[in-house]
Amino acid sequence: MSTAQIRLNDRVAAMQPSATLAMKSRAAEMRRQGHPVVALSAGEPDFDTPAPIAKAGMQAIQDGFTHYTENPGMQALREAIAEKLERENDLRVSPDQIVCSNGAKQSIALAVHALCDEGDEVLIPAPYWVSYPEMARFAGATPQVVHTAVDHDYKLSPERLDEALTERTRLFILCSPSNPTGAVYSADELEALADVLRRYDDVLVLSDEIYEYVLYGADHVAFGSLPGMRDRTITVNGFSKGFAMTGWRLGYLAAPTPIADACAKIQGQFTSAPSSISQKAGVAAYEMGSGPVDDMVAAFRERRDVVVDRLRSLEGVQCPMPQGAFYVYPDVSSYFGAETPGGETIKDSSDLCFYLLEEHHVALVPGTAFGAADGLRISYASSMDDLKTGLDRIEAGLEALR
Ligand SMILES: Cc1ncc(COP(=O)(O)O)c(C=O)c1O
Repeated sequence: MSTAQIRLNDRVAAMQPSATLAMKSRAAEMRRQGHPVVALSAGEPDFDTPAPIAKAGMQAIQDGFTHYTENPGMQALREAIAEKLERENDLRVSPDQIVCSNGAKQSIALAVHALCDEGDEVLIPAPYWVSYPEMARFAGATPQVVHTAVDHDYKLSPERLDEALTERTRLFILCSPSNPTGAVYSADELEALADVLRRYDDVLVLSDEIYEYVLYGADHVAFGSLPGMRDRTITVNGFSKGFAMTGWRLGYLAAPTPIADACAKIQGQFTSAPSSISQKAGVAAYEMGSGPVDDMVAAFRERRDVVVDRLRSLEGVQCPMPQGAFYVYPDVSSYFGAETPGGETIKDSSDLCFYLLEEHHVALVPGTAFGAADGLRISYASSMDDLKTGLDRIEAGLEALR
């Protein structure tokens, strides 16, 4: 058999590769070719894991804590998470309702696969995190994308939610603080969404709260803590963003018992528990105190202000003020239809990002990847120097368009 004859699973063949990872590898390839690319496309903090956490990981290795743990995660970590959820999020769950996985990405995949069948719909507000629709499709379900508007800070209104729900809706995925927009729903806004959901008994909610700690003054409200929502909400969170632990691969979900059990069953057959070393480090993260996280968030806030000020000064760019995460999502649609100096027409944000990368050596992620083609995502998880250089290049690139 030649490699050309190898037949892949239909769902794998239909899956889109992650656009953020694709941008990262294209920028790396250009760097290898000698181009001085500034990458403002990263989806991870540019800070190292705080020392007390790293030390706990090293200690785990030295102590020989290097074996499989219980499949849903070791008891001490699940207890620490349950305490955190009660203390910080007003969410009462038992450690048995928590499943720890190799990152929040796996937690979301587990929940989507545990819940969705062929014919089910998964409601996803756009701009969305790139993996949600692919996971829904891979589970056999149909992603239903509901669009939000830049002048509503890309937040879903209760009216739009009500219009979009159908009798086939199985799961509604909410992400606050949001990747890619940085939007944060207030308690009142979440309550208004919950009020709509109370009329749809069968709809479950996956609340992705991975950016919970990266907030600029707004309060984080766990969707599952709202009256009547706990028994229909899968809360997903993890250590990657708030504790700068992306490489440790540690996330978790907290869910009603039948859902947590189903997720644990899938995990038991597919991957087993996350790394024992990372789990020890996770316990240390909750014991560390908030100092290192506060410092990181203060740095992000300073950068956010610089980036947003600068973007707002550019002609034809509309940029809401993000309240959390480390992304901005400016609307650049006024440049669609413009021509590059090379005579190419910019049709959409994908063309614009490609042009900015190839001609001006700045890597961004096009809105087409997030289901909202009028915008693009700029990550400010980069040094201030890189941000300033990157913004200069964006400005020069936009000015050169006719
Ligand atoms: C919205 C959102 N959810 C989940 C994840 C996955 O995070 P983890 O590194 O814990 O798998 C990411 C990472 O980019 C994200 O942006």
